[in-house]
Amino acid sequence: MRINNENYHTIWVKENDSKTIQIIDQRYLPFEFRIAELRSEEDIFVAIKEMWLRGAPLIGVAGAYGMYLGLLGLGSQEMMDERITKIASYLKSARPTAVNLQFAIDLVTEEIKKEKSLDKKIKMAFETANNLKNKELENCFKIGEFSLPFIEKISKSKKGGVVNILTHCNAGWLACIDYGTATAPIYLAHKKGIKIHVWVDETRPRNQGARLTAFELGQEGIPHTVIADNTGGLLMQKGMVDMVIVGSDRTSVNGDVANKIGTYLKALAAYDNNIPFYVALPLSTIDWDIEDGIAGIPIEIRDESEVRYVEGWDGEKISKLLIMPENSSTLNYGFDITPAKYVTALITEKGVCKATKKDLSKLK
Ligand code: MRU
Repeated sequence: MRINNENYHTIWVKENDSKTIQIIDQRYLPFEFRIAELRSEEDIFVAIKEMWLRGAPLIGVAGAYGMYLGLLGLGSQEMMDERITKIASYLKSARPTAVNLQFAIDLVTEEIKKEKSLDKKIKMAFETANNLKNKELENCFKIGEFSLPFIEKISKSKKGGVVNILTHCNAGWLACIDYGTATAPIYLAHKKGIKIHVWVDETRPRNQGARLTAFELGQEGIPHTVIADNTGGLLMQKGMVDMVIVGSDRTSVNGDVANKIGTYLKALAAYDNNIPFYVALPLSTIDWDIEDGIAGIPIEIRDESEVRYVEGWDGEKISKLLIMPENSSTLNYGFDITPAKYVTALITEKGVCKATKKDLSKLK
């Protein structure tokens, strides 16, 4: 996808220096475009935890590169297996909700078990991370292709009128490698000349919608409007939303969807107003070990300062402002669970299915 008319992925191996991973540092967007360099598993851990990069598929790919950098730093084969296990659990602990992180680290761990020497394990970890990156990129494109007909159908029923799509948080290309999950069909529809307009939930407290989704859509020339998080319900009642599409950080076997805090409320409003609510996700986001998402999916609680302060551009730099009485306490849950019954369909790289155990299991 484009930034200032240049094509970028969110993460890549530095040219002529395969020991350095480069990422778009999302903490500065949309105000400044900065690239960060990561050279160790600690660097990757911090980048994931402090959200220099974020979004489930991207966190997974970064975790895979974290394993590679961790192996590079081992230096010798002494107590190699124990040290690898330690790196894996350290990286997994960076963020708890997006299952892609566990998925990617387990994938690298399994692959490197096939090799005996440290050198070969390093090579294997590097290849596995690169392959996962390419696979997640492809997955998003396929998700876009499978989701596009839903937009086309609405466009047809409106006789070519504007299709109004609401999305929450950033399930765009910045959360993945390219295309995004929820945004992939939006980009494809725009390319096909279908008239679309996107309602972008600002997504407090970190404002991924206002800062990242609006930035992405703007770079691609897609009409969009940022709305306060509580606005979606009214827009739905007024007939100003044709469909909702979001991403997921972890979806359980029964089809319950964990996504950015506030997603559940949009699903409830969509259900009450008979508006389709789609979830776009790669299969790496499905947790086959958790049956019931409400009971089983771990929900991240982030630092209270993210609620207490609001961050924005003061004309010269990014600044933080206190927005409540200093002594008030805050609570900062990062995600919520949308029960499967409110999900119209799940859209994966293998096709569209109902949010039920029966249908999901067919995609495994
Ligand atoms: O806390 P974040 O910004 O990592 O949360 C991201 C989301 O909730 C996205 O909607 C989700 O990861 C889907 S990514 C395509």
